Amino acid sequence: MSEATEPGMEMRQVPAPEWAGEEPLVFELGGDLERGPREVETGVADRPLAELLPGVALRASPAAVPAVPEPVLARHLGRLARRNHNLHQGIYPLGSCTMKYNPVVDEELARLPGFADIHPYQDAGDVQGALQLMWELERLLCEITGMARISLQPAAGAHGEWTGLRMIQAYHAAHEDTHRTRVLIPDSAHGTNPASAALAGLEVVTIRSNADGTVDVADVARHLDSSVAAIMMTNPNTLGVFEKDILEIARIAHEAGALLYYDGANLNALVGLARPGDMGFDVVHLNLHKTFSTPHGGGGPGSGPVGVAEALAAFLPTPTVERDGDRFLLDHDRPQSIGKVRSYYGNFGMLVRAYAYIRAYGSSISAVAENAVLNARYLQSRLRGIFPMAVASDSMHEFVATTKGSRVVGLRALDVAKRLLDYGVYAPTAYFPTTIPEALMFEPTETESMRSLDLLADVCAAIVAEAERDLDHVRGAPYLTPVSRVDEVEAARRPVLRWRRAE
Ligand SMILES: Cc1ncc(COP(=O)(O)O)c(C=O)c1O
Repeated sequence: MSEATEPGMEMRQVPAPEWAGEEPLVFELGGDLERGPREVETGVADRPLAELLPGVALRASPAAVPAVPEPVLARHLGRLARRNHNLHQGIYPLGSCTMKYNPVVDEELARLPGFADIHPYQDAGDVQGALQLMWELERLLCEITGMARISLQPAAGAHGEWTGLRMIQAYHAAHEDTHRTRVLIPDSAHGTNPASAALAGLEVVTIRSNADGTVDVADVARHLDSSVAAIMMTNPNTLGVFEKDILEIARIAHEAGALLYYDGANLNALVGLARPGDMGFDVVHLNLHKTFSTPHGGGGPGSGPVGVAEALAAFLPTPTVERDGDRFLLDHDRPQSIGKVRSYYGNFGMLVRAYAYIRAYGSSISAVAENAVLNARYLQSRLRGIFPMAVASDSMHEFVATTKGSRVVGLRALDVAKRLLDYGVYAPTAYFPTTIPEALMFEPTETESMRSLDLLADVCAAIVAEAERDLDHVRGAPYLTPVSRVDEVEAARRPVLRWRRAE
């Protein structure tokens, strides 16, 4: 008798572990679609539902919601979390997105019942603490940006852009200056800038950048006339370069009657060190989920407060939070307001986190920007011999490299981005800004250590060396992620976005 067939020791066919293959959708995990994991005691079970609800509210058939036992759901979510890169796993140098580590204490504060369990329809008298927090956050953000007033309502940076442009339109209309229908936007701008302008009904005029990556002031001057409502600028811009001519741009914009809009997505480079208001900006949006360390969410809930100089304060969305002695109240009576831009007062939980973050730093918040810039410059200096840089200028908190002109002919930004995933590093932003071919935009943020910056630089060097030996191998990456390289054309043309029950 061989060892393998000893009684009771026969080799059994062991199924692959649950985490090894494709993860099913929660709908496919099986279970009874009509009953959840627990019977929930409603206290109304002995009264016919029809007595409690009007007929129209009653379903004719049970909702097709997944109903799986709690442990099954918990493991499903755990497996999904392991399949995704996140900041608890490693560096996430996604340029322009400021994927810094979010302190746990901010999460805990946002979950305090006094913040988490209140309802926006409660009487102002019952939610004084929440109103005070919003009032104080507005003051803190005004201090940081140099703006006179701020609305906390917009739910994302892009939403803040649109809100800001609507206020700029209201400002011009109030001055009977109704022919200002154009917005000047640099060619390096984030795509949301022209998109927001178009959505506000404005015509976009693209402004050229110089070889050093900054906006061409002469091109701005050429396009400035009485039809221009605003110039939208990001500073530092999306190449990570400080717009050194910003005071001159502000001067000529104002001389021509236009307003200056600040896209605050890159405030992490300047927070506590320089203020957009002092540079001459009239309207500013902030991405709390970038600089102020609130979660980015999967497209939300974010927060994009928008601030204005005194001359535009009357146009802020309603309601504003005001203080009357010791009391805080909501002011809905603002006749020149552009109106409401979001239900209730924005994503309140994000406001609590941002408030906690700012108060924790206090007057030393400039350390955020100093370390963000230091980290970016260190990483850039380590990568200089590995990738060409898009521009020669010194970077601020992020920089753009390119694979074009690197040692390996044919190595694409996409290949580097995908291969990085095999090394446990999230990819930098690729192919943005669109003015730079084969762009890789790195933003390490202040929360990375020198050790993790060195790891990232070493991995980039290893990938380029690998590509020199065997380019096809790099082109086939990633190999170790749950999903390998997808057919991007197919994914874009025929996306499968909706679960349907199998026939
Ligand atoms: C420069 C810049 N502007 C605007 C936005 C839009 O912000 P949000 O994603 O919060 O809408 C982004 C987002 O990455 C950005 O990088």
